Amino acid sequence: MSAPRPAEAGRPPWGSSKVAKPHLLESCLLSASGISKSYGGVKALDAVSIEVEAGSITGLIGPNGSGKSTLFDCICGFQRSDAGAVSLAGESLQGLSAQAIARKGVRRTFQQLRVFPALSVRDNLLTSAQSAPGFGYVQELLRLPSVRAHERAMRERAEAMLEEIRLTRLAQVLAGHLSYGQKKLLELGMALMTEPRLLLLDEPMAGVNPSLVEDLKVELQRVNDRGTALLIVEHNLKLVLDLSHQVYVLEQGRVLMKGTPRQVSDDERVMQAYLGVRQTAGAEQDGAID
Ligand SMILES: Nc1ncnc2c1ncn2[C@@H]1O[C@H](COP(=O)(O)OP(=O)(O)OP(=O)(O)O)[C@@H](O)[C@H]1O
Ligand SMILES: [Mg+2]
Repeated sequence: MSAPRPAEAGRPPWGSSKVAKPHLLESCLLSASGISKSYGGVKALDAVSIEVEAGSITGLIGPNGSGKSTLFDCICGFQRSDAGAVSLAGESLQGLSAQAIARKGVRRTFQQLRVFPALSVRDNLLTSAQSAPGFGYVQELLRLPSVRAHERAMRERAEAMLEEIRLTRLAQVLAGHLSYGQKKLLELGMALMTEPRLLLLDEPMAGVNPSLVEDLKVELQRVNDRGTALLIVEHNLKLVLDLSHQVYVLEQGRVLMKGTPRQVSDDERVMQAYLGVRQTAGAEQDGAID
């Protein structure tokens, strides 16, 4: 994909701090093409095609029910699409299980939080770490030195992740006792434990206290700076337009448009698709509780 980045095409009206990464341009990491999915009589996705460049941040916006989460489900193997193809760096993900797709380096967070409430924060992170790559059940059972070394590395990574998501002081607390915003941070940390190539975030800011939104935004930028490409579904338009290099707009299961944040925010159809459904460009938050 060769569309210009915000820094080339002009900043979005509210002023993006995003800097283009020229060396990462032109390399398509994720390609989803012609994805269709129906639930009974409801056509959730109708031949949707999107691409995510390696190392980029891509936004995916659209009114409620436009198919954003369903597209995530189809990309990540949580739902089987009726038609279409998904590939990662040119390799087909067709027919792979959600676990196999995760092992390829595609991780996601969910609109409805998925943490293990009865496990500690630290253990939630550890459950997300991959088992020792290349080791079978017997090797893990015998706890060979190489398996132990891997486990040690994962524990160190969990400690570093606790620092990064600022939950170190709550490491032993059961995840069920965290505030909503802290659970969102934990879910992000869990997805990052395996250093994914691509991270799909389904409404990372929804319900998060406005005071935490800026921190979360900085964190997402940091993750992206380390090379993880992000595909972000988010109703906070200001935030998604500010963060993204490229934005897709879905409406009723179809791609209404794709463009730079500036192009999207200038587009009449996009604003019409949103007006009456969500406020435009406002830092609107639903139900912030922490
Ligand atoms: N498991 C399901 N069974 C039946 N219908 C579904 C299912 N999942 C989604 N749908 C329907 O598919 C359409 C797209 O839903 P989806 O959740 O993908 O939209 P969305 O863009 O993520 O919406 P929101 O912004 O509210 O999260 C909607 O009409 C929804 O009711
Ligand atoms: Mg959704």
